[in-house]
Amino acid sequence: MELQGKKIVLGVTGGIAAYKAVEIVSRLRKAGAEVHVIMTKEATQFVTELTFREISGQPVAVDMWEKVTHFNVEHIALAQLADLMLIAPATANIIAKAAVGIADDMLSTTLLATKAPIYVAPAMNTNMYENPITQRNIAELRSRGFHIIEPAAGHLACGTSGKGRLPEPVDIVRIVSAALTSQDLTSQPLTCQDLTGQLTGQKILVTAGGTIEPLDPVRYIGNRSTGRMGYAIAEEAARRGAEVVLVSGPTVLEDPAGVRVIRIETARQMREAVLAEFPKAAAVIKSAAVADYRPAAVAEQKIKKSEDDLTLHLVRNPDILYELGQKKEHQVLVGFAAETCKVEEYARKKLAKKNLDFIVANDVSEADAGFGVETNRIKLIDRSGRMTPYPLMSKKELAGIILDHVAEVLEK
Ligand code: CTP
Repeated sequence: MELQGKKIVLGVTGGIAAYKAVEIVSRLRKAGAEVHVIMTKEATQFVTELTFREISGQPVAVDMWEKVTHFNVEHIALAQLADLMLIAPATANIIAKAAVGIADDMLSTTLLATKAPIYVAPAMNTNMYENPITQRNIAELRSRGFHIIEPAAGHLACGTSGKGRLPEPVDIVRIVSAALTSQDLTSQPLTCQDLTGQLTGQKILVTAGGTIEPLDPVRYIGNRSTGRMGYAIAEEAARRGAEVVLVSGPTVLEDPAGVRVIRIETARQMREAVLAEFPKAAAVIKSAAVADYRPAAVAEQKIKKSEDDLTLHLVRNPDILYELGQKKEHQVLVGFAAETCKVEEYARKKLAKKNLDFIVANDVSEADAGFGVETNRIKLIDRSGRMTPYPLMSKKELAGIILDHVAEVLEK
């Protein structure tokens, strides 16, 4: 929940893309943000106020003069509470009004009153967008510190094609999240281009969490993996523009934004899902803690206790990563080695045996690294034998480092 505690005021104006703002609200809330929607009167022609109220869980502001129950002077209250203001879609009209400081409705007034960073996603017909007046207004907003999220090119609702389409909600949410989670909100905004550059068009397959192996209908053999490292990698890969498939064991974590999640339980189910996705993958990052053994038989009924000791007969599970190493063609393969002793030695052996491009090794016996914590301390070992140790970092930061290495190998 990277936007937990963040307050976003979303302005929705009257364009056909207003419907996409519903998904933007939904994604922002999923990431933990509190979202307050201000609609222009024209926007209510496209999507109802009720839709945004339901999806945001907050009252929706449209009219300046309506009896308000939640805020004293509503446009001032919203202007002040915002950590960030986003206008998506932004029509030529709101852009023009903002450029000259017209404040004649709730949204334009709030825009004038806020000191929060403002992100504007223009969406309109190409000719309107390219009109020098609109371009001049956009330039004016830029010079005043507004952050412009460039429209995408493509087929437009008016039947023409060209620049003017609202970028996908997932991309807009990425930009907003990056702005809110970076240290310096006044720094240059990340555009879709910047974020999607590194892994755009690449399919990245990530596995996360521990697999579980049933003994009977109520019991299983499992491990301590929570999935945090793999989820952080999947989320970061999606932010960088990759098409991400996350094969996940049972975990309490929510699906990362923009990631296709396949939930499995056992090692054999993970193998099946991974093998199906493998041929088209550019890289596979296997952070899952896969059970090496499973009970030879799963009891149909709950096993009852007796006076005797109980011996479990376990059989070997397939080693998924080893199998990928044998099958590998163009794919970059990344393994993890969670060890409690001789970390580097064991990691090097796994790297060679499983035919990996690099391996992420960590000592899970350390209190601040490994299972169930937000931080990790890793060593990266590559095919040439080079070992790079990293200091204690958040799993999110480490995800970025691992993906930088993946991108480097993919380039080669
Ligand atoms: N792995 C896998 N299939 C398995 C076991 C492990 O794909 N049946 C993958 C893990 O996802 C990880 C890497 O192999 O990326 C190393 O996993 P680990 O459990 O540390 O190694 P093992 O090969 O199982 O060796 P050991 O348990 O003896 O340490």
